[in-house]
Amino acid sequence: MKKYLLLSFIPLLFLSVSEGQSGICKQCHPTIYREYYQSAHRKASVYNDPVHGAWWKLMSKKKQGGYTCAKCHSPSDPEALEHGILTDNRIQREGPISCVHCHTIDHIQQNDASNTNITTGKTREFFTAEASKKGSGVAHFQTHTSWFGLNRSVENSPFHKINYNNENYYNGNVCMGCHAHTDNEHGVDILMLDAFIDKKDKETCISCHMPQVPGTKVTLKHTPTHAYHGFAGIHNMTEALGKYIDFNVSRTADGFDITIVNHANHALFGQAYREGVLKVSINHNGKERALQPAVFTRVFGKNGKESFPWEATETLKDSLIYGKKKLHYPVKLYKGDTLTLVLGAKRVSEAGMKALHLQKHSELTRFKPLKYGSYHF
Ligand code: HEC
Ligand code: HEC
Ligand code: HEC
Ligand code: HEC
Ligand code: HEC
Repeated sequence: MKKYLLLSFIPLLFLSVSEGQSGICKQCHPTIYREYYQSAHRKASVYNDPVHGAWWKLMSKKKQGGYTCAKCHSPSDPEALEHGILTDNRIQREGPISCVHCHTIDHIQQNDASNTNITTGKTREFFTAEASKKGSGVAHFQTHTSWFGLNRSVENSPFHKINYNNENYYNGNVCMGCHAHTDNEHGVDILMLDAFIDKKDKETCISCHMPQVPGTKVTLKHTPTHAYHGFAGIHNMTEALGKYIDFNVSRTADGFDITIVNHANHALFGQAYREGVLKVSINHNGKERALQPAVFTRVFGKNGKESFPWEATETLKDSLIYGKKKLHYPVKLYKGDTLTLVLGAKRVSEAGMKALHLQKHSELTRFKPLKYGSYHF
């Protein structure tokens, strides 16, 4: 069976590949490809993401010098990356941040305004992480024959080499070329993850956002699980991230306190126009009473007035969740009461929907729950 599978790939092995061709990977990594296709990374271009499209439309009116977002939103389209020329082409639609781009990031160059990914330029040798093979050198395709030729097994990929030695794929630093910060021309960070990667951390960007899920990573070999390429976040698997957030509730003289503890190595909800919301309600004698929800977001400004993020010179308000956030509610709780908490996020706040003229896309402002809590008194 494996032998026939292998034979069917032979024509592929002679194809030349460019960075933008994620479709080739689909032949042998169909499950990962399917997840990737639903991910924010495949949808990161102006043509696939209505939010990015709306920003660029408003911004580009005042801007010269072409499309400047490509190094993070469509690095696999050479016309966009090198010349700032944006066209509705196949790469923009099918894989603006391609499989090859992510798997060939050699290291990250640190810059003030934003970092830059330095890639190897090799389209047939990919970095990945696998603790048991770290330090083993570059893996080539091998076939083994045993039992006098009756059993054949294959190891590694017939299509590409694999390099297990890049530390950035183990500690999550591979994400930081794009996710560290994006400053506007006044030095205001409109992305703000505020991440800190520490060797001692138990979890990394990769273990939290690319958890191992059922399904083989490749057709030529069976593995029970693979790293999730839809990326847990607001688009997909939102509730899976709830386990990295804790609630602590304690009673005070005049009511109660809620502390939200964030175990991620970064702030929550930092992207411009994102909004975290904590819904709080009390069930008293069978009657549900909703309290004023708490909102976690940033508001950008210029000359003391609210402005578009890309024009901002200052932050007018910052209620994001960093390590911990304590909220006080001067509301008495009685014996028998139940307190219910739901923490979630909106991809675009109501204010953002208006500012970006996105009202037609009401799904963008839907509340997506991350974490639930229920407390009986
Ligand atoms: C002809 C089949 C084939 C094609 C096409 C193919 N791969 Fe693979 N790939 C494999 C096989 C087989 C392995 C498993 C190696 C092993 O673990 O023994 C693999 C492993 C990998 C790994 C490392 C996984 C790990 O942890 O072992 C990465 C990363 C990868 N492929 C990326 C890609 C990308 C990106 C593309 C498209 C440009 C691609 N592959 C196209 C067959 C293929
Ligand atoms: C240094 C890398 C980088 C550059 C350059 C960059 N971005 Fe982004 N952008 C990101 C990342 C990473 C995210 C995802 C942030 C998140 O989800 O928290 C993002 C998210 C966004 C979003 C939010 C999308 C959503 O789902 O709500 C918009 C809008 C956006 N960027 C617009 C732009 C525009 C317009 C430009 C060019 C003027 C640009 N970005 C340049 C890295 C970058
Ligand atoms: C080439 C740049 C680039 C790299 C490398 C990159 N990202 Fe992203 N990522 C983006 C952009 C751009 C977006 C936002 C796209 C949009 O919404 O328009 C994004 C979105 C996301 C999101 C938001 C998903 C959601 O549902 O809203 C998560 C989570 C994420 N990335 C995690 C990661 C992790 C973890 C890594 C490292 C393994 C990584 N990214 C590597 C550019 C990148
Ligand atoms: C301990 C788990 C954990 C670690 C480690 C972690 N994250 Fe997160 N991340 C979360 C949680 C929880 C959220 C909030 C969920 C949300 O906003 O959808 C989040 C949100 C995000 C978002 C915003 C998603 C969105 O669109 O709103 C991005 C982007 C992101 N993380 C990237 C990263 C990167 C890059 C790293 C590594 C520096 C990292 N994360 C490390 C748990 C983690
Ligand atoms: C945003 C960056 C990013 C993109 C885009 C991306 N990958 Fe990955 N991929 C990673 C990282 C980081 C890992 C390492 C995860 C781990 O195993 O710890 C990984 C792991 C893998 C693995 C090994 C899986 C496992 O469970 O060990 C394969 C195979 C793979 N990727 C193939 C692909 C293919 C095919 C595509 C396109 C359809 C793709 N990747 C797109 C970042 C990316």
